[in-house]
Amino acid sequence: MRARELNETNRRGATVAIDGLKVRDVDALAAALAPLPLLQKYGTTATSLAGALVRAVEGGDMVLSARLAGEPVGVAWVVGDGAFARAAYLRLMAVVPAVHGQGVGAELLREVEVRLADSSSHLLLLASDFNTAAHAFYRRLGYEQVGIIPGFVLPTVDEWIFAKRLVG
Ligand SMILES: CC(C)(COP(=O)(O)OP(=O)(O)OC[C@H]1O[C@@H](n2cnc3c(N)ncnc32)[C@H](O)[C@@H]1OP(=O)(O)O)[C@@H](O)C(=O)NCCC(=O)NCCS
Repeated sequence: MRARELNETNRRGATVAIDGLKVRDVDALAAALAPLPLLQKYGTTATSLAGALVRAVEGGDMVLSARLAGEPVGVAWVVGDGAFARAAYLRLMAVVPAVHGQGVGAELLREVEVRLADSSSHLLLLASDFNTAAHAFYRRLGYEQVGIIPGFVLPTVDEWIFAKRLVG
């Protein structure tokens, strides 16, 4: 993984810095993300999210964080062969509510794709059936819905499978 930080300017002119998530930033990031209604619906708390992110970082998964004005504001967590033991799986993509719509999520996902380009043909992810904002976000970035898994995580929610070919 590159040590260099990727710096981009977001729509409000602030600098978005994207790099591997540091364990020292996990607690602040998890606390900022835990209020997201999506995470609450799936029973994710700041504590459980922080634990999962630390295990992911220490286990060598690709976990990227975005910072705005020095504060961690978003995360993208990728399991390298998590999609059918064949392609990369985007396990978590989340941006703190206060900065939604400023391009942070798009920058995170673009950097994920750049870093995966040599190692994975596709990136797959699941999005809840009700999460129309996420559907729009992924479609805008070139992802296509390729399937549905009924009641996969929560019994009353279908998970939509989205995929994007990363190479040729
Ligand atoms: C989904 C999420 C990661 C998007 O991050 P973001 O930083 O708000 O998105 P961006 O500002 O980078 O948007 C990128 C593109 O997606 C589009 N988009 C983002 N949110 C959208 C929405 N609610 N409705 C329609 N389009 C949307 C944007 O318009 C933008 O396209 P544009 O450049 O043409 O304007 C963020 O809203 C989030 O954390 N949501 C809650 C958690 C979640 O749903 N995670 C995904 C689970 S599968």
